[in-house]
Amino acid sequence: MILAPMVDQSEFAWRMLTRSFMSPESSENLLAYTPMLHARMFTETPKFRDHHFQPTRSGLSSPPKAEDPLPDLYLDGHPEIDRPLFVQFCANSPDELLEAARYVEPFCDAVDLNLGCPQGIARKGNYGAFLQEDWDLIYKLINKLHLNLDVPVTAKMRILESKEKTLEYANMILSAGASLITVHGRQREQKGHKTGLADWSVLRYLRANLPPDVVIFANGNILRHDDIFSCLEETGADGVMSAEGNLYDPTIFAKPPPIGHEGQEYWRGRDGKGGYRMDAVFRRYMDILYKHVLEKPPPTRPPLFLPSDPQPDAPPTTANESAQNEGDDQPPAKRQKRDKKSTSPNLLAIQPHLFHLLRPLITKHIDIRDALARSRAGDIPAFEHVLQLVESAVKDGLLDYDSDPAKYEDSSIPDAKEQEANLDKDESSVATVKACKRPWWVCQPYVRPLPKEALENGSLTLSKKDRRMLEEERATEKVRCEQGRKSEREELDERDGMERGEVVRDGMVAG
Ligand SMILES: Cc1cc2nc3c(=O)[nH]c(=O)nc-3n(C[C@H](O)[C@H](O)[C@H](O)COP(=O)(O)O)c2cc1C
Repeated sequence: MILAPMVDQSEFAWRMLTRSFMSPESSENLLAYTPMLHARMFTETPKFRDHHFQPTRSGLSSPPKAEDPLPDLYLDGHPEIDRPLFVQFCANSPDELLEAARYVEPFCDAVDLNLGCPQGIARKGNYGAFLQEDWDLIYKLINKLHLNLDVPVTAKMRILESKEKTLEYANMILSAGASLITVHGRQREQKGHKTGLADWSVLRYLRANLPPDVVIFANGNILRHDDIFSCLEETGADGVMSAEGNLYDPTIFAKPPPIGHEGQEYWRGRDGKGGYRMDAVFRRYMDILYKHVLEKPPPTRPPLFLPSDPQPDAPPTTANESAQNEGDDQPPAKRQKRDKKSTSPNLLAIQPHLFHLLRPLITKHIDIRDALARSRAGDIPAFEHVLQLVESAVKDGLLDYDSDPAKYEDSSIPDAKEQEANLDKDESSVATVKACKRPWWVCQPYVRPLPKEALENGSLTLSKKDRRMLEEERATEKVRCEQGRKSEREELDERDGMERGEVVRDGMVAG
């Protein structure tokens, strides 16, 4: 199981949170990647290095030598808590890449080359997926590390326009010395609203045609824990990587507890479906930040609320009420001074992480969304305040569920077998949305609309060329959806209160 590299989002604290849900026996089965680091900036700019990679307290003024002691270990790549770890770079100069890699090699298990980033910034900087046109350079980049580094070199690539070309590409990368390849089953053009589904059949083809000892990690389409095993089975890959699925649900790699052993953190409905409670995950996340990043004890917290707890006579306070009690939904007035210029990657990432983690909850509780939006990087009391609001909202949700569970059960949701039978994954995400949907207090994936659906709901507009092609396609294939009628997918989103105006901005997909 592999936690994907994510710019500004697969930082130390998030990796720790993700790892924390693994059982002690399975924790070593989780490999994590750092966010992509820019090799040239990493070598040329000490501040960039300090702000993005913090393996020691004193920083890295020069690449550590093998014989140097490493006395003041801090966060990234800590041998006791943050391994296995691969550090990922983007680069287009073999010398710069090697120099950058030398800084990190004592703190990681491999150095990975990003060959997947499809963003405009990668086009401008000539890295990521835009190296696909220059196989000779890719070879040199990988080979340079292969010949000169003490840890293995690996690469994360996208699929190309055909499976044969992808195989040739993978072979070239392996021949340069890559110890393993991660294959994202989408092409470079599949980004943003055009992301669509990853093509596992290409991965299967690679598995069948590459030597059996070549290690392949599959990437794409992992929304839930069970998808990991479907992917292993369908592709024959050796490992499965998740990015967005992990952002929305950092427990995705963890095996759910058996029925009857939910404990306080896991919630299961009477239909047997469940997930980790958002207040529980949020608490763990904050506590990791206190312990490792801020290096101070977390506040003492009462046990998480359970509906079986004795109820006070007074009616439960709603999140909105408790926000008003705090004084017009402002964080407590008296609090520690803000760290205005926080540069810690772990503190800068808190707000975006919470927007992902809490998405269904803050779509319903706008006051909490606003409180989160106002919380600045490093302002820990502000995030503690959001946590209190979340705890109160979850408590209300749990009580409401207990008083009327049917309200939360969608009788139109077909059972798993029926879903499989009806699932035309390329055409509609409706069945997937239904299968993934949980009550709003439970961590759950966000199912992106497919490009076709994005077109229908107007969030994707086509270039003239694409429009002409689509019209031709429509003329031959027949239009499936009636014009003017709401798609089923839109209806589902609206039922969740996810009208477009309320949708939280998604993080960029950078690889
Ligand atoms: C917020 C975000 C940041 C990302 N940053 C990187 C990155 O730094 N390096 C990289 O190779 N891929 C990056 N990616 C791409 C993912 O690693 C992954 O290949 C892609 O999201 C497909 O996996 P998924 O379907 O599980 O999301 C990023 C994706 C997201 C959502």
